[in-house]
Amino acid sequence: MRLMLLVIAVFLLLVEGSMVVRTLSRSRRELASPLHVGGIRDPYGSYCQRRGGCCEGRNDQCTMLYLDTICYCDLFCNRTVSDCCPDFWGHCLRVPPPYISVCERNGHKFHSGATYKENCNLCTCGPNGQWNCEQHACLIEPDMIQAVNRGNYGWRAANYSEFWGMTLDEGLRYRLGTQRPSRAIMSMNEIQQCYTALGYFNAAEKWPGKIHEPLDQGNCAASWAFSTAAVASDRISIQSMGHMTPQLSPQNLISCDTRNQGGCAGGRIDGAWWYMRRRGVVTQECYPFSLPEQTPAEVSRCMMQSRSVGRGKRQATVRCPNSYSYHNDIYQSTPPYRLSSNEKEIMKEIMENGPVQAILDVHEDFFTYKSGIYRHTNVNFHKSPQYRKHGTHSVRITGWGEERDYNGRTQKYWIAANSWGKNWGEDGYFRIARGENECEIETFVIGVWGRVTMEDIAQHHLKL
Ligand SMILES: *[C@@H]1O[C@H](CO)[C@@H](O)[C@H](O)[C@H]1NC(C)=O
Ligand SMILES: *[C@@H]1O[C@H](CO)[C@@H](O)[C@H](O)[C@H]1NC(C)=O
Repeated sequence: MRLMLLVIAVFLLLVEGSMVVRTLSRSRRELASPLHVGGIRDPYGSYCQRRGGCCEGRNDQCTMLYLDTICYCDLFCNRTVSDCCPDFWGHCLRVPPPYISVCERNGHKFHSGATYKENCNLCTCGPNGQWNCEQHACLIEPDMIQAVNRGNYGWRAANYSEFWGMTLDEGLRYRLGTQRPSRAIMSMNEIQQCYTALGYFNAAEKWPGKIHEPLDQGNCAASWAFSTAAVASDRISIQSMGHMTPQLSPQNLISCDTRNQGGCAGGRIDGAWWYMRRRGVVTQECYPFSLPEQTPAEVSRCMMQSRSVGRGKRQATVRCPNSYSYHNDIYQSTPPYRLSSNEKEIMKEIMENGPVQAILDVHEDFFTYKSGIYRHTNVNFHKSPQYRKHGTHSVRITGWGEERDYNGRTQKYWIAANSWGKNWGEDGYFRIARGENECEIETFVIGVWGRVTMEDIAQHHLKL
């Protein structure tokens, strides 16, 4: 009798013990990694067959030893992730085993559907175990940088983290933003002037403290507003002999000059100059640029209002849209004038009156410009057209110079300010070949006068 009880107790313990094991293997069954991530290993092994058959539905005891773990021969085994024995499909279902694809990258394995980003292209692990990557042309193509730097093109290319990961199309769409002038504007009278040429001229050296540093338009295609505000800022500072040195607000133009303008989706410089003249803008300090966080960028509501105070002059009727600046003076310009495309006349204008605005054709290699005298290169000529694109941009030319290249030839250049921040190019500036209409930079050049009188200057000083 005592022996019987002991036997029963031991039996119960065993049952209890195997229950515990089953409970463990059951939860393991749902949580552990699948057996067959790498496709069916050992497809010719005999497991379910050796076991003597398969099980209906879910049966957590329907197992066999498989390598250092167990595999299942019940119909539940391929429900979520597969822990079926390798011969389950062939032996129990009489179908070929499925192949679960795995892609490799840097020594790691990824399931089908996994993704990673390679520069501007999304790569997805496909059903064939291969990464399938999108085929966009990227804004920064490493081979283009190498090709430029290996060749004797006169300039150096570099990688920019803010451009890395963008497509070329996105770069053209979000980083430029000046529409080609209409034919009516293109036929604006060109002013003819005589000249005296200097070998080197830099507005920042002739007018220290009056030439404003390049700003960063971010992913806002509003070079139309940035170049206009920058040229007007420099011209007003020069004309007022430094009594007023406003850095004018591109945001004021982007948000308020909305008639036929696209804000951060591009705009026209003739529209911008119309606004500068008829409405005027406040300073960047008063109405700061807010970098758009999403693309395509949304244009925020216009926060400046002004009214006429006679003789075409205007005054702000609201405070600056921020709490730290109360100088809400409105700055205006006179009508802009177009210069002839003659290099010497552009030079004379800059030397006498200050920086000018120029429209520029930006090609794909320009984004990587780091230093030197830029010329559009042929490094992408062998590539398909999607890698060779261009868009219209506007910049501010502030000077010129010349230097000897590796062949001893004299290379003439313009000094121009871009609006891609001070980290880009030569402290935000670039030099580009002069006198050969490189990228059409000499085709459409604009000068302007600020509306600055002695009375304005006196009033300005009273307010300070
Ligand atoms: C289980 O196996 C069958 C037969 O191969 C298949 O049709 C089914 O899609 C599989 N289920 C899962 C979840 O993989
Ligand atoms: C370019 O810069 C980005 C961001 O800093 C970096 O992730 C990428 O590897 C760089 N590419 C090359 C080709 O140097």
